[in-house]
Amino acid sequence: MSYLSVALAKGRIAEDSIKLFKKINLGKTELNSTSRKLVLKDEEEKIKFIFVKPTDVPTYVERGVADIGIVGKDTIMEEGKNIYEIMDLGFGKCKISIAALKGFEIHDMVTELKIATKYPNIAKNYFYNKGIDIDIIKLNGSVELAPIMGLSDIIVDIVETGRTLKENGLEVIEDMHNISARFISNKVSFKVKNNVISKIINKIERYREGENR
Ligand code: PRP
Repeated sequence: MSYLSVALAKGRIAEDSIKLFKKINLGKTELNSTSRKLVLKDEEEKIKFIFVKPTDVPTYVERGVADIGIVGKDTIMEEGKNIYEIMDLGFGKCKISIAALKGFEIHDMVTELKIATKYPNIAKNYFYNKGIDIDIIKLNGSVELAPIMGLSDIIVDIVETGRTLKENGLEVIEDMHNISARFISNKVSFKVKNNVISKIINKIERYREGENR
């Protein structure tokens, strides 16, 4: 029997993803959020976990190198890959919001609005219909720095606790999307390995029902 391959996003949602699989008795001893190993196998259950950058999870799943994966809705929206989004897992909750230095108002702008973001596609789509000229500045982190340093007028970024905004003198102008971790699947794997993938989905659903009771 071939292994079922699972892509997990390193970083923010890694711990909750690992916890979820442990709760449903998959990858029990092997899975460990402090390990630096990139491939972990549960020989007994014939399941293989791979740990990749969040933005790469949809790529691995679309290509079928991973059959299933767990990744944030933000990454799914930004990457726009051809995959199935199966289930909202309810953890990793945050928002994608527009923020700026306190007091800044978008209608103050006369020329193009400079937007710093890790999410150029999400930002572009959102402003597309608003009739505002925009200039997207793609950053890879510390996005809140951009308005402070005059690199951008606003940012489009993840807000979880709101601490990063607050401690840097920024505030939310508008919330754009609610985000949480999602269970995704490769489209072919979902058919060919439906038995085993459905079993995992059922186990997750039962565990979550028990948790919410
Ligand atoms: C994210 C996001 C914000 C911060 C929001 O960055 O881009 O900077 O977390 O969280 P908060 O509302 O709880 O303060 P991340 O920690 O992923 O690091 P990065 O800046 O390197 O992208």
